[in-house]
Amino acid sequence: MSGGGTIDFEIRESSQRVSATEREALLANPGFGRIFTDHMVTIRYAEGKGWYDARVEARAPIPMDPATAVLHYAQEIFEGMKAYRRADGRVGFFRPDANARRFAASAQRMAMAPLPEELFLDSIRQLVGIDQEWIPTSAEGSLYLRPFQYASEVFLGVRPAREYLYCVIASPVGPYFSGGLKPVTIWVSDDYTRAAPGGTGAAKCGGNYAASLLAQAQAAENGCDQVVYLDAVERKYVDELGGMNVFFVRADGSMFTPELNGSILPGITRDSIIQLAREQGRAVEERPVTIDEWRDGARSGEIVETFACGTAAVLTPIGTVRGVDGEFKLGDGGTGPVTAGLRQSLVDIQYGRSADPYGWTSTL
Ligand code: PLP
Ligand code: COI
Repeated sequence: MSGGGTIDFEIRESSQRVSATEREALLANPGFGRIFTDHMVTIRYAEGKGWYDARVEARAPIPMDPATAVLHYAQEIFEGMKAYRRADGRVGFFRPDANARRFAASAQRMAMAPLPEELFLDSIRQLVGIDQEWIPTSAEGSLYLRPFQYASEVFLGVRPAREYLYCVIASPVGPYFSGGLKPVTIWVSDDYTRAAPGGTGAAKCGGNYAASLLAQAQAAENGCDQVVYLDAVERKYVDELGGMNVFFVRADGSMFTPELNGSILPGITRDSIIQLAREQGRAVEERPVTIDEWRDGARSGEIVETFACGTAAVLTPIGTVRGVDGEFKLGDGGTGPVTAGLRQSLVDIQYGRSADPYGWTSTL
């Protein structure tokens, strides 16, 4: 049971671990979110009892009553973070405390019981510890960790649930976009928005992603990889992509990114890039950015690069922006030097290859 601290985990090792040979074969080409490790973490919550029954156990289906609240009203949140295999064989983490904080903030927005941050961090260490052989050793490989929490109470009334299940699963991954550092083409959604003021845009809740799927399908029909969303009120300001924040680079090397306006997810990569870029002596503004400023700047040559960033996507250059009224390119549509440089600085810290003056990294 837990008020603010942590609790002991019961470890039930899987009796059906994937063999080393089969694992190596799977790790040769993991893709993204397709294969999973042997174990998972589960912790339960009940009102009046707190968090209890923390377990590391064999990864398995979770049986659910058809009246489980999450299936009806989508009271669910998740996180996305990675564990990295370092050159010296150790396992590294990148700002897991920031994921723990954001998870608690998402819980608060979705009227869910918040998991104590120490318990979140413990759960990550437990799962990575037992499944660390699943961390790819390939250059851009990592173990993607997916903590999530949902309303597990069996009840159809519309109110915050009184029972929750917290779970962590892990998936060895390669690059999110199959092209690697190849620039992506982005669709400006005219028909759909992602988040409105007062809504859930700043929370990492499953419903935000469900709402994005139709726009994403439309992007694919138009030959695009991802959607960029405009603000819901004026349809004028750039918010972010479906699963990534966005940055703009000017010809003079300065940068800007949409400010955290309550509708944008506060990305940990975004925050890290702002700090890294400033450290490099670049001016970085956080402020409203209009789609007109982006288009006109790209056409005049003032904006030379745009990139998307997030845990899954790392830094991905945006080469072309397409919408109902035409398209424009960033620079020559290729990968710009500022994007490539910042990406390298970030991954070098994440993989423990360069010094970390920020205290962002830790090891298992
Ligand atoms: N924006 C959205 C909507 C996301 O889903 C993500 C991914 O987590 C991000 C931005 C980037 O956040 P982070 O850098 O913390 O992964
Ligand atoms: C992440 O970057 O971790 C995300 O959650 C984006 C997407 C895979 C949902």
